[in-house]
Amino acid sequence: MYTQAMDTTAAGEAPKARRSAEEMQLQERFDARIDAGDFIEAKDWMPEHYRKTLVRQISQHAHSEIVGMLPEGNWISRAPTLKRKAILLAKVQDEGGHGLYLYAAAETLGTSRDQLFDALHTGRAKYSSIFNYPTLSWADMGTIGWLVDGAAIMNQVPICRCSYAPYARAMIRICREESFHQRQGFEALLTMMTKGTAAQKAMVQDAVNRWWWPSIMMFGPPDDESPNSAQSMRWGIKRVSNDELRQRFIDATVDQAKLLGVTLPDPDLKWNEARQSHDFGVIDWSEFKRVIAGDGPCNRERLAARVKAWNDGAWVRDAATAHANKQTMKEAA
Ligand code: 3HC
Repeated sequence: MYTQAMDTTAAGEAPKARRSAEEMQLQERFDARIDAGDFIEAKDWMPEHYRKTLVRQISQHAHSEIVGMLPEGNWISRAPTLKRKAILLAKVQDEGGHGLYLYAAAETLGTSRDQLFDALHTGRAKYSSIFNYPTLSWADMGTIGWLVDGAAIMNQVPICRCSYAPYARAMIRICREESFHQRQGFEALLTMMTKGTAAQKAMVQDAVNRWWWPSIMMFGPPDDESPNSAQSMRWGIKRVSNDELRQRFIDATVDQAKLLGVTLPDPDLKWNEARQSHDFGVIDWSEFKRVIAGDGPCNRERLAARVKAWNDGAWVRDAATAHANKQTMKEAA
């Protein structure tokens, strides 16, 4: 065909030229499938940059789930009632499960779990900025559920339609569970705000004051400063832009805050009739940059906790490997 007819390379170079002609064809087919809204499966051909982008995003997401267990896990033993303790325990366990689905999705792209962990433990991989903030009171548990999981759902529901099918499938279950996480957080805060003492209400307001801005930073840099957005949107990895998701989250949260009786800590937050959306104040992007560069309030503590968990778990991995080897030898015998 046309591309092969153009193959004019010498004998030794022919495979390279032919491969690139084939690749062009594969690329065209891939682009057409993306344009048609088709889903890409693990064994399908994909451009290397698409694969790398997915590994980057999925691993960042997986690490966020695993590191995200730390700020809440810290409160399991201090939950005020058995009911709240059971809910928090289930939620933290869910986050661990989400991490595992996501690591498995990244593995389908040819990156091993050991490689992913190594990147996290050596500080080469990112995880969500939000988990580098401390949890200072019980109200932080409710606020994380309401705002942090609320922001996560807003960001993650569109990923259920991500063009890479194993990621999209993992996200369906994750979003259902995140929805429970968001509701339990809102309900915990509502209980404190409607039945609590003045001190408990103040504790909720203080938690909301501390978590509001970091939550709206979770959506990532503004669109015009987001290096990955344009290509990821083109490939259908991201379906909605960072700024659009942030705006949707703010618009949805304002009424919920009214229902709770808390004030969102932004004097510039107001309804804009013309835009049919809320205007909001200036986000401190220097804080965001500092946190993702490793200099947030808890970055060092979080990473140290993950490295310690990995090292402490070495004997479990060794024992499991020894057991698996024994089983294989038994079966072979
Ligand atoms: N925290 C840390 N890093 C962030 C970030 C954040 N909140 N937002 C953006 N970044 C990083 C990006 O990873 C990228 O760095 P890299 O190129 O080294 O990977 C850089 O900042 C530029 O940002 P872009 O907007 O260009 O990057 P993306 O196109 O990847 O968009 C994203 C960022 C919106 C976070 C996107 O990756 C995404 O949707 N990820 C999937 C969802 C996710 O990771 N959520 C994690 C938070 S919540 C959670 O998982 C736990 C839940 O239980 C609460």
